[in-house]
Amino acid sequence: MLDQYINSEKHPEKIPLERYINAISTGLQKRVGMPRWLPRFIRTYMMRADLNDYWTAINAIREIALQALQKKIDSKESSREKDRKEMDLIDFLFSSMVKKEPLSLKEIADETLGFFIAGHETTTNLIAYAVKVLCDKPELLARLQNEIDPVLDGHIDDTNYSILSSSLAKLPILEAFIKECLRHMPVIPMIGRQVMTGNAVLRGYHLPEGSIVFNQLYASQHSSASFENPDAFDIDRWLIEDEEKLSKMRSFVNTFGDGNHACVGQQFALLEIRVILMLFIKKFRCRHVVGRVELELIHTMTLGYKKGLPIIIEQR
Ligand code: HEM
Repeated sequence: MLDQYINSEKHPEKIPLERYINAISTGLQKRVGMPRWLPRFIRTYMMRADLNDYWTAINAIREIALQALQKKIDSKESSREKDRKEMDLIDFLFSSMVKKEPLSLKEIADETLGFFIAGHETTTNLIAYAVKVLCDKPELLARLQNEIDPVLDGHIDDTNYSILSSSLAKLPILEAFIKECLRHMPVIPMIGRQVMTGNAVLRGYHLPEGSIVFNQLYASQHSSASFENPDAFDIDRWLIEDEEKLSKMRSFVNTFGDGNHACVGQQFALLEIRVILMLFIKKFRCRHVVGRVELELIHTMTLGYKKGLPIIIEQR
């Protein structure tokens, strides 16, 4: 996806999508990271260079989203009265009401943009981590190949990928692998909540109005209080029969957040990750480049590799 180019009426020059995504990611991170006690004009001044790129990127992607929405309206593909079963995300947004008013085209474009930004770097970084683990652990790759090959044989060729949803149910090792990736590498390592009105008490701690509390997912998902040998990447911890233990471990993994603002894209992300990893494992083998330097993590809005993931991928 990142080798796509943005090419709109206002930006006839071809701009790699990756540059815009990075500008939005950096801008968001800087905005969130600026101390709140600094006066607003100082915060704006300090991040003026990043904000320029950030707004250029947002405006360009918003313009493209608006063009796509207009096209959908003109072709009458989207209707506010469509049957719910046939509705896609944009149709749902078209039929949404806020204070009894439908959303404006700009609001729908911005919601679409939100999904695009929230759903992009998270899923790609998780898949990159999964592939890195496959390079680290050839014996795990072989285990996954043995499970996936018979399920996909006869269902895919070079141009056709027909994966039945029933096939996904037959892959417990893949499921355990994805669960362990989500536990070991929470790609959004920290989520926050603010006390909006009144005071709150959290586990005996008094939190006055305005307090911000962060949940350090990386720390809690690597805590020996919740997991045996927490730093080891071990898919077998999820392949046990003890339902009570499994449910306890599941409750400690919050990679998609929790509560009213938990990730709305969770099911979609899990489906994407399953399908992409399944096809990757079926079609390719991978290994680290010889003499690689230690991979360095970087925490922007998400956790990812600072200098990418240099690996060798070959067709099987
Ligand atoms: C591995 C993939 C993903 C991970 C780990 C992830 C993780 C998260 C987390 C931790 C949050 C904040 C939850 C909270 O504060 O409790 C969030 C919010 C959100 N995510 Fe995801 N996400 C992923 C993929 C996606 C995808 C594919 C989409 C959309 C297609 C998406 C859309 C959103 C949106 C719109 C929100 C904001 C929800 C709100 O504030 O009400 N995410 N995600």
